[in-house]
Amino acid sequence: MAERGAYNFAAGPAAIPAPVLARAREQLFAGGKGGGLLERPFSHPDTRALIAGARRTLARLLDLPDSHRILFLAGGASHQFAAVPLNLLEGTEPAVYYDSGYWARRAHGEAARFGTALLRALPDGRGEPLPDDTAYCHLTLNETADGRAWPSLPDCGTVPRVADATSCFLAGPLDCARFGLLYASAQKNIGPPGLCVVIVREDLLARPASRAPATWSYRRQAEQDSCVNTPPLAEILLASLVFEWIGEEGGLAALAERNRRKAALLYAAIDDSAGFYRAVVDGAWRSITNVCFRLADPAREADFLAAAEAAGLHHLRGHAQVGGMRASLYNAMPEAGARALADFMDDFRRRHG
Ligand SMILES: Cc1ncc(COP(=O)(O)O)c(C=O)c1O
Repeated sequence: MAERGAYNFAAGPAAIPAPVLARAREQLFAGGKGGGLLERPFSHPDTRALIAGARRTLARLLDLPDSHRILFLAGGASHQFAAVPLNLLEGTEPAVYYDSGYWARRAHGEAARFGTALLRALPDGRGEPLPDDTAYCHLTLNETADGRAWPSLPDCGTVPRVADATSCFLAGPLDCARFGLLYASAQKNIGPPGLCVVIVREDLLARPASRAPATWSYRRQAEQDSCVNTPPLAEILLASLVFEWIGEEGGLAALAERNRRKAALLYAAIDDSAGFYRAVVDGAWRSITNVCFRLADPAREADFLAAAEAAGLHHLRGHAQVGGMRASLYNAMPEAGARALADFMDDFRRRHG
């Protein structure tokens, strides 16, 4: 947790809401007859109840249709880059990956090791339908490194949409019915690293997936309640506390409103700076989660970052592949944090513009 008056803009692992950390401190290390959560067999009824409870709370938040199953898997979205083709890309049908940025290309690169994965430019609105014999169509809903987010979902016809939702998951309502599969690493809006939430439509569990190792087989994990092997229990406990906190904050619609207001503050500071700051992404594709920007004079960026750190505005350095600055505005970032950064940007511009 950042010190008082300081704000953590890290892209991930990211800030975890303070009330969640307080509860986690109590619950993670609580003992019990025969040991606490981290010391007892994962078949213990209390442990199974924790997993089932986390799943129920998440399903309620998302208003998840009965057709979709939630899995809590060890590892990160990078594991899913391989697990997705191993489960869904068998046979001769190709998969299509939309090239929205850094993480989409990482996902595509991994899939191409296991089958035919085509990398496609973003749709230009003229509508280029996908052939029906496409195994799935992969989207990275929010590009954490580039600051680019899909403004609306592309028409994929009958082809299942598969999405890396890592950095926008739980930032607002998400109509899971429109996806065959979604996956999200935890260390943005879910909690601590080491856990990946996978949401999969039941009909996709019927694909043969003969190459998928048992731990990465969606069907096996769904059949065994995410317990094919020892699940990441501490991470699931923290996630369940975050899910409850989201409910207490008013749910996903309320968080979406708050997140939009936070992003608007920063984009206004950029757009009203007479070119002193420049957004990396323009228009409808701007992410409200990861606001990426540059200074007109890149030589000043090191000064900007050092002054921001000194002012308690931490971890604003952009992704190594993009450079510049990046402010990540996950759910745990209060509006006051975005306002503090916008004020700092105005002040820095006045002093150096
Ligand atoms: C959109 C996106 N996909 C995938 C990943 C990789 O996640 P992990 O490092 O947990 O595998 C990240 C990490 O930041 C991400 O932002």
